[in-house]
Parts: sequence; structure tokens; C-alpha cells
Amino acid sequence: MTINYRIMTAQDIPDIFSVDRMCFEHNWTLESYECELNNMLATYIVAEDNDQIIGFGGFWAIIDEAQITNIGVLESYRGRGVAQKILNEMIKLAGVKGCLAMTLEVRVDNKAAIALYEANGFEKAGVRKNYYDNKTDGLIMWRYQLE
Ligand SMILES: CC(C)(COP(=O)(O)OP(=O)(O)OC[C@H]1O[C@@H](n2cnc3c(N)ncnc32)[C@H](O)[C@@H]1OP(=O)(O)O)[C@@H](O)C(=O)NCCC(=O)NCCS
Repeated sequence: MTINYRIMTAQDIPDIFSVDRMCFEHNWTLESYECELNNMLATYIVAEDNDQIIGFGGFWAIIDEAQITNIGVLESYRGRGVAQKILNEMIKLAGVKGCLAMTLEVRVDNKAAIALYEANGFEKAGVRKNYYDNKTDGLIMWRYQLE
């Protein structure tokens, strides 16, 4: 299996939306992904297997800080290093865009995602109470150096 990693294009939006629906409880709309195409701050990486989008991740480069918006991999492709490679690409491109640090919010009960981020040098930095749907806390994580 060869998975290809590349920057998102307009043609990818329906597939990205479909992956979003299968990965996240609180989904973005199709329009919100279309808007990201024209968002000068945004960069999205897609992972594709034989022309099928099987995962994606994105971030906003805000001055010298990168904010991860989301990373999702289809369930049948999990545990094979796909998110790791997407994150590698995001960290590399954030550095190219002049970012010195990277941050994100993740549900406090999302063990897989927290493990992914901790394995990549992100540290727990705070909690936003009831951040998700007024029910689940959001864990703030930072990687203070990208190099
Ligand atoms: C979190 C998610 C993106 C991980 O994707 P993945 O492709 O399976 O992750 P990888 O195979 O690249 O794993 C890389 C590292 O992350 C950690 N990790 C990933 N899944 C894990 C799990 N279920 N349990 C523990 N650690 C896990 C491990 O450290 C792993 O490295 P290792 O395989 O050497 O142990 C995936 O589970 C997903 O899409 N979840 C739903 C969407 C979501 O919650 N996204 C994050 C919101 S910000």
C-alpha cells in the first residue's frame, strides 16, 4: 500500500468532508472546508490511497504560531502511521511559513489523539471547561519548538 501525501485542492473538498463526517462528532460544513481554500492562513494536507482521500489534517499559520484545526484518518486506515505522516508534513510546512510553535485543542477523553500529540512533543498546557458542546473539556496542547 502506497499512501501519497499532498496539499489539498478544490477537487478534494467533497472527500475531505466525507472523511470529516466519519471522524468527528462535531462536523464542519462542506462550506467551511471550501472557505479554507481561500483562507490565506490555512494549509491542509491530504493522505490518499489510489486517489481516495483516507485522511487529512490542517492548520492556520497565525504570525509565528500554528494552530491545528483537525486531523482525521478513516478508521480502516488507523494504526498505520498515517496521522503521523500528516502531522510530519504539517510541522514541516508550518516551519516553512515561519511558525515557531504549534498548538491545538483536543477533547480531554480523546486518548488516541492525545497520545499522537504527546509522542510528537506536544505538552498539556491548560483546559477549557466545557469547550465541546458545553459538556466535554478541551485540553490545550503546545509544542513550543518546531525544529
Ligand atoms: C487520532 C487519529 C488521527 C490517529 O490516526 P492514526 O493514523 O491511527 O495514528 P498513527 O497510526 O499515525 O499513530 C501515530 C502515533 O499516535 C499514537 N496513537 C495513535 N492512535 C493511538 C491509539 N488508539 N492509542 C494510543 N496511541 C495512539 C501512537 O503514539 C502512535 O505511534 P505508534 O504507532 O508508534 O505507537 C485517529 O485515531 C482519528 O482519526 N481519530 C478521530 C479523529 C480525531 O479524534 N482527531 C483528532 C482531533 S484533534
